[in-house]
Amino acid sequence: MHLTAEEERILEGEEGWAASKAMEILVALGDAVGADRLIPVEWAHVSGVSYKNLGDEGASLLERFASDGRFRIRTTLNPIGMDLERWREMGVDRAFREGQLRILRALEAMGAELTLTCTPYYIRRPRLGEILAWAESSAVVYANSVLGARTNRESGLSALSAGLVGKTPRWGLLLEENRRATHLVRAPGRLDRLGYSALGALVGEAVGDGIPLIHGPRPGEGEMKAMGAAMAAWGAVSMFHVSGVTPEAGRAGDPVEVLELEHGDIEDFIESHMGEAEYVALGCPHLSASELREIRESLRAGRIKVRLVLFTSRTVRDSNRGLVEELEALGARVYVDTCMVVSPITGKLGPPGLRSGKALFYLEKKGYGPGRAFFFRL
Ligand code: F3S
Repeated sequence: MHLTAEEERILEGEEGWAASKAMEILVALGDAVGADRLIPVEWAHVSGVSYKNLGDEGASLLERFASDGRFRIRTTLNPIGMDLERWREMGVDRAFREGQLRILRALEAMGAELTLTCTPYYIRRPRLGEILAWAESSAVVYANSVLGARTNRESGLSALSAGLVGKTPRWGLLLEENRRATHLVRAPGRLDRLGYSALGALVGEAVGDGIPLIHGPRPGEGEMKAMGAAMAAWGAVSMFHVSGVTPEAGRAGDPVEVLELEHGDIEDFIESHMGEAEYVALGCPHLSASELREIRESLRAGRIKVRLVLFTSRTVRDSNRGLVEELEALGARVYVDTCMVVSPITGKLGPPGLRSGKALFYLEKKGYGPGRAFFFRL
């Protein structure tokens, strides 16, 4: 990979240890994937920042980066293992909290924004064509597909490095020619939210890391959020197109591989994951303000009769205080900074009912939390 004189200087350590280490990581990645050069990035989003993932060793590494590293671009963070205020009631102990705070202090010292959400696009909506280095698979697929921004599916470390250097290797989904569809998926026209989650899971399983072009349904943004998150978890999809809906569908090409899914396939998948849930957890990915409003309307109308645990970002909560208070007065519990997968709450409350194909994948298939979770139709 070609480096400019300035990039060489950073690599040689003239701007400190952290920048040099970050450059070394980007160069190794760029060489491995055959990138020709680095390009500027506007925004890095770092995942894997829970103490559960990193432990003390990871915290020490971040402290080393923080000794002289400073982010050069906006750098935001994924959810952590607890709500920073309501950690006790989630079943988090003091030792975990201390470890988690060590990680956040190190990242904050480098200049990260403590957003702690998997929906950074609700903080600022990236522009069409904007170059990002995001490392949360559900946010990656949303940015590429729904918004037409450009990001590869970064790891936590490569996103951190992009934040420290302000650049990323030019390859993969940053290039126009790699954004065309690999599979045509014919799907039913009318689906509810759970149906979109199931469709995402089935498509993800079938196409792996391909790019599906979906023909038939006309999902809204919340539905595409659920569908994309499921595709990224059950497969490794980082981009999809929906005919007549997503911004790049018109130039998705004509894929030869075809997948036909009927209503019955989707309902069978849902049915095979139904069961006795103790409560319902919503917010994987984190809920938007409009989704919180929808839930409030359903609660007010008495359409939801189960115990609800909701997850959103502190950004959305702080700008919708009245709404959140009302949801809590109606019996829901609203947490921020974390989720049903990365916090210990599911282990504490028993098997949850879900509308999210991604959460189902982690809680049921991967055995996080109680190891049991079910789809639930609200
Ligand atoms: Fe977000 Fe947690 Fe789901 S990080 S995408 S709510 S697994």
